[in-house]
This record gives sequence, structure tokens and C-alpha cells, in this order.
Amino acid sequence: MTESTNIVWHESEVTKENRLELKGHKSAILWFTGLSGSGKSTVSVALETALHAENIHTYRLDGDNVRHGLNKNLGFSPDDRTENIRRIGEVSKLMVDAGLLTLTAFISPYQEDRDQVREIVEANEFIEIYVKASLATCEERDPKGFYKKARLGEIKGFTGIDAPYEEPDNPEIIIDTNQLSIEESVERIVSYLKENNYIC
Ligand code: ADX
Repeated sequence: MTESTNIVWHESEVTKENRLELKGHKSAILWFTGLSGSGKSTVSVALETALHAENIHTYRLDGDNVRHGLNKNLGFSPDDRTENIRRIGEVSKLMVDAGLLTLTAFISPYQEDRDQVREIVEANEFIEIYVKASLATCEERDPKGFYKKARLGEIKGFTGIDAPYEEPDNPEIIIDTNQLSIEESVERIVSYLKENNYIC
């Protein structure tokens, strides 16, 4: 990839603070990470619905969707997964600048990649949410039938089977979907957002 040279940042007159004032809530990335089938998409969809009902301006980015468009040229090698997360991080940063509570649902198996995203936004603009479910549970749920295929060797490098998943070192929130219902999971995240003054 060639890098751009001779480029200069051009400031807008309207700032992020102006946009946040307009919306009446803070912007941040709610970064859902976890195994395939752990519940990232399900919980983030339900959370977005709950937030929208409270007049919070949101946007949700989801691995399976983004890989149909922006990232359709990426596969699942370690380098491609890193690039997948880097791009999502940059897109999410723009959305935070736009004033949105941005929900992302990607396996994002590497701690270093998640930390990189944390570093490109301001402190408190990155909330890591570990959607925790045992591999056995995810395999049992197997909503897309991919674990079965991975066990049969029909999908290579599947996270949790023959590719790694690094559990978050220090996530802001842990949602154990073995224990919590979808409603309880949503409630826990909404409480966190209220307690930490992201939303009223
Ligand atoms: S990530 O590792 O780069 O963060 P991402 O969240 O975008 O992954 O995509 C994961 C989704 O792609 C899974 O939910 C699953 O539906 C599908 N998928 C296809 N192949 C693989 C694979 N080898 N490993 C994990 N997920 C895969």
C-alpha cells in the first residue's frame, strides 16, 4: 500500500463539542468483542433499540455486514483481521467526531488491535465490552453452522477452534451471556452509560 504524502489537515468550523451540545449526550465507541456466537450482535442490536427509544443518536457497525462492503477485500488471516479492526476503528472515530454513540460488534480477537483503537480516540471514548460465553456454549448455539464446518475442517482458521481469541485484559464491562438475558445485558450497559454520564 502506498502512503499519502503532501496532505494537510483542514479544520471544520463546527466542532465535535458543538455537535454534542446539539445532541445532548456524549459520543463514544461501545466496542463489543467476543467469540462468534457469544451474543455481540444480538446484545448490540437490542442495546441500540433501547438507546434509540431514549433519543440517543447511535450507529452500529457489525462484522458480518461491514465485510460485505467496506472490508469485502479482507479475509480472516491475522493481518486481515488486524486491518479489519484498524478500518473499523477509524470509521468509529469519525462517528464519535460526528457525535454518535457508536456500537461495534466484531470478534476482534487480538488485544493489541483493540488497544490500537482505544489509543486513537480520547480517554473515555472507548468502552470495551467483553461478551463472554464459553466456547462450548457458542458451539452449541452455532447460529450459522460455522463451528460445525470448522470442526470438520471445512473452514480453516476459525476463531476458538484453530485461531486464537485473546480475552480482554481489562474491559470496562463484562456481559456473561451464559448467565444474563438479553434484557439484563442491555440494562447493565445502559446503567454503565448513565453512571458515567454518557447519557442522562
Ligand atoms: S474479526 O476477527 O476480523 O473481528 P469479524 O467480526 O469481522 O471478525 O467477522 C466474524 C464473522 O465472520 C463471524 O461471526 C462469522 O460469521 C464469519 N467468519 C467466517 N470465517 C471466519 C473465521 N475463520 N473466523 C471467525 N469468523 C469467521
